[in-house]
Amino acid sequence: MNYTNDDITVKEKLKLVNYLPEIGIKRIQKEIITGLQSTPKYISPKFFYDEAGSKLFKEITQLKEYYPTRTEKTIITNIYPKLNLNVSKLNIVELGSGDHSKISLFLKQIPENTHEHITYYPIDISQSSIKDASFQLHKEFPLIHISGIVADFIHQLKSLSFEGPCLFCFFGSTIGNLSPYEVKEFMDDLSSIMKPDDHLLMGMDLEKDIQTLEKAYNDTQNTTSSFNKNILNVVNSLTGSTFNTNHFNHHAFYNSYHRRIEMHLIAKKYMLINIPSTEPISIAMGESILTEYSHKFHPDSIEQIGKAAQLKLNKIHTDDKEWFSLVHFTKK
Ligand code: AVJ
Repeated sequence: MNYTNDDITVKEKLKLVNYLPEIGIKRIQKEIITGLQSTPKYISPKFFYDEAGSKLFKEITQLKEYYPTRTEKTIITNIYPKLNLNVSKLNIVELGSGDHSKISLFLKQIPENTHEHITYYPIDISQSSIKDASFQLHKEFPLIHISGIVADFIHQLKSLSFEGPCLFCFFGSTIGNLSPYEVKEFMDDLSSIMKPDDHLLMGMDLEKDIQTLEKAYNDTQNTTSSFNKNILNVVNSLTGSTFNTNHFNHHAFYNSYHRRIEMHLIAKKYMLINIPSTEPISIAMGESILTEYSHKFHPDSIEQIGKAAQLKLNKIHTDDKEWFSLVHFTKK
């Protein structure tokens, strides 16, 4: 996560820009400290994704228990003809692009003779994944224009604008990481930058039996546990704090009332965490730090979310088991 220095690379069909410095390290530190001083304590899941965290997440997506990525990919593989897009000119804007494997499956379905009219904008908070994804895709699709953006797509979305028809892609059920209030704000922001006839394709994980859900976040290899604990390393490097990952347990469970997986880090003992220029933070034995919500959706909640943001629900595309959905919205 590079909040401090500007970094722009230009090639003929490949551009990269970093907007994170506009947020600034001070605001990020304040955001993290506010969460740690709250009751209950929380850390935003966007801080999972430094280089090590992005790598661990990629490992998670390959676990047998973690069904979402695999299932979403089967839906993406044949989605393109079902969307009826006009590709005489098209911007494809991917929010939280992460690694490039999903968009690659999508772009493969677009006839090659239209590639030169397409610009792909991957947006992600992880500079390393924007770089890797952009270079890989440039190799795979040399005719498509690629313009990588390093940004916090939740808070910086409103300041982005794209000329011409757009397809926004928000895969991976990352929307599920937001609280209902944040969903409303985010969807309003997204809707406000969508022009009439722009499209949105959003991955949304579906409600299913609790056992399947809980296994996906408690894998036998403990990769999810390592991923969860790594957030403390990221917090240490951003704030200078003194968390020791060995002093916490991974805890993930399904909250049926709120229809979400919750991931927490539970303190194994009492500890004081030093952070430069703030009071030490005391953590009781057994106290939890919330690191992630992962909401699961239902066709009714999906329609509601679109409607509240003035988006028309075109179709919910799903897999055979109806475990995951790719939702097609358009701007009314
Ligand atoms: C893909 C970012 C939405 O909630 O499933 C995976 C991340 N967290 N295992 C999800 C995640 C724990 C994740 N997102």
